[in-house]
Amino acid sequence: MTSTTAIGIDIGGTGIKGGVVDLETGELVSDRVKLPTPKGGEPDEVVEVTREVLDQLTGGNPADPVGVCFPAIIKGGRTMSAANVSKNWIGLEAEQKFEKALGRDIHFVNDADAAGYAETTFGAAKGVGGLVILTTLGTGIGSALIYNGVLVPNAELGHLEIDGHDAESRAAYSAKEREDLDWKHWTKRLNKYYGWLEFLFSPDLFVIGGGVSKNWDEFAPMLELNTKAVPATYRNNAGILGAAALASNDPRADRG
Ligand code: BGC
Repeated sequence: MTSTTAIGIDIGGTGIKGGVVDLETGELVSDRVKLPTPKGGEPDEVVEVTREVLDQLTGGNPADPVGVCFPAIIKGGRTMSAANVSKNWIGLEAEQKFEKALGRDIHFVNDADAAGYAETTFGAAKGVGGLVILTTLGTGIGSALIYNGVLVPNAELGHLEIDGHDAESRAAYSAKEREDLDWKHWTKRLNKYYGWLEFLFSPDLFVIGGGVSKNWDEFAPMLELNTKAVPATYRNNAGILGAAALASNDPRADRG
């Protein structure tokens, strides 16, 4: 039986958050559960806290599909990179590890891909044709490419090299804070970064997410782009919503 709700869990550097999502509306139909990410972000401990988050949520409907998103390249269920998390994730059969600990199938996906899918399914890019590029500007820069509603996974556009630097080390929101840049100076960096993305991909829409999208009015007027740019609809819940929606579309979701 196809579920009308699914569970999304978003693993980040500081917190592991989860919620039950209404797949029609994209609304959370449970409280949002959030537990701190264990210090160091080691796999065993992260999996354990994820289990606790899921336990708190499945009081509702244990048959719901479960999606988990994570800040790394995820290929065939394996974590292939580890920017801003423990290096012990690299090469790990992470999906299997979660499935064993949680005792059920999950859908495992990159965090920015989940956020991009949420915006396409429920939010700022809903119904937009052509190429949408979502970026999340946080500790790092996450990115998702969505073409005519179809997600092309694992675009790591935060790691483009610009002027000899990893782009996220210059243009993520963390760079603004670390270097104490004012909005004008930081937006200059954004213009360079998004200018490259425009040149490489000729997108139809940029969706700009991450916590800083709440400060949209501070920097958006200074963006000099040829492509339309809009703030993400979802800030804190994008990963949860997208992971849940992707899980519900996983062919295994019907196994219950
Ligand atoms: C990682 C991406 C992730 C992004 C946002 C980057 O450093 O390489 O996989 O999506 O941070 O968390």
